[in-house]
Amino acid sequence: MNKNEYPKRRRRLMQMMGHDSIAILPAAPMLIRNRDVEHAYRPDSNFFYLSGFAEPDAVIVLVPGRPQGEYILFCQERDPKMEMWNGPRAGQEGACEEYGADDAFPIDDLDEILPGLLEDREKVFYTMGFSAEFDHKMMEWLNQVRGKSRVGVHAPNEFVALDHLLHEMRLFKSRSEIKIMRDAAKISAKAHCRAMQVCRPGMMEYQLEAELLHEFAQHGCREQAYQSIVGGGANACVLHYIRNSAELQDGDLVLIDAGAEKQCYASDITRTFPVGGTFSEPQKAIYEIVLAAQEAAIEAVRPGNHWNDPHYAAVRAITKGLQKSGLIKGNLRTLIKDEAYRRFFVHRTGHWLGMDVHDVGEYKIDGVWRLLEPGMVLTVEPGIYIPPGSKGIAKKWWGIGIRIEDDILVTKDGCEILSEGVPKTVDEIEALMATTN
Ligand code: GLY
Ligand code: MN
Ligand code: MN
Repeated sequence: MNKNEYPKRRRRLMQMMGHDSIAILPAAPMLIRNRDVEHAYRPDSNFFYLSGFAEPDAVIVLVPGRPQGEYILFCQERDPKMEMWNGPRAGQEGACEEYGADDAFPIDDLDEILPGLLEDREKVFYTMGFSAEFDHKMMEWLNQVRGKSRVGVHAPNEFVALDHLLHEMRLFKSRSEIKIMRDAAKISAKAHCRAMQVCRPGMMEYQLEAELLHEFAQHGCREQAYQSIVGGGANACVLHYIRNSAELQDGDLVLIDAGAEKQCYASDITRTFPVGGTFSEPQKAIYEIVLAAQEAAIEAVRPGNHWNDPHYAAVRAITKGLQKSGLIKGNLRTLIKDEAYRRFFVHRTGHWLGMDVHDVGEYKIDGVWRLLEPGMVLTVEPGIYIPPGSKGIAKKWWGIGIRIEDDILVTKDGCEILSEGVPKTVDEIEALMATTN
């Protein structure tokens, strides 16, 4: 990430907050996996967006107009003994020199210093409800300031959701953010190609997952943006299938939904392909419907269209395809109006993509779907799922679950498919699978 972005973001946020305000953002906590084992640490996206600082036990405080400095970072103190166990810390000096803080204090001094920073401020920008412990501290600090009213200290009167301003900023990606997201998507695309090439009947789903992780890591991405979904056969009909523990069977499809995370930016790609390298006729028939829906939806991603236009396009194509295949019967317009597709296409066509895989940003403004604008990134991911035992559905369709997902940047005059490079048509997939890695 271009290091100049962080101060720019903080300045913009402070401009929007106004002079009489203060913003407070605690870092994400370290999470325990089991007993003495911790999960890999992932900074909170808002926190990282404003600071680029990736240590736990830290708090960002922004105080517009404060003469001694507007950006204060509370963080862990240097401690050679602890650093020998857990690795280096920036400390207060590093916070200022490496991360651009105007002022830095040990995290243990938070209780002592923070009430003073709240004094004579009117608005507090803070996201309530994430940490009961931190919420409680906020109230204590506030009460301490209120207790000083007789000596002429003014306590803040307004609490404002910080998320609203920050999320609107995060929705529009800068040039350097787009570069990182493009890289993440390209790396994920390579990983999906590798999975297609190495997939064989008899492999375990988690072995295919390992191939994806291998490719991510070989290209510089240690983390996945979310738990990969590798679902063979009917497992593809379980939307959040992450068990990835079954053996892949010849004759089945496998659905892979996986994306690398690069510098805290997500990619999110889904492909569905035949374990044995060749689609059966029913699999092909459903695949072509989903592909047509995905292409129609991507066509609808351009500035001026609204958020739901791609979804409408996908719904129309899926309904048409299901009707043609005999899976639903009736008049097209009525079927769309009655949402007959929802039995098979149970989720929406996409979501914002960014530092979080289901990224932040409003989808509606004043109750109306918002317009797409350059710099926004979204996924397009229609799917059709027919679990085994589906009542009233011919057996030949049972156990077919197909989704196709790409990452799309809205540009000035249309869109760019960031995740380009993974085969999508039946012929392309079969051809790639016929080559070995
Ligand atoms: N991988 C999560 C999603 O596609 O929304
Ligand atoms: Mn996905
Ligand atoms: Mn997605």
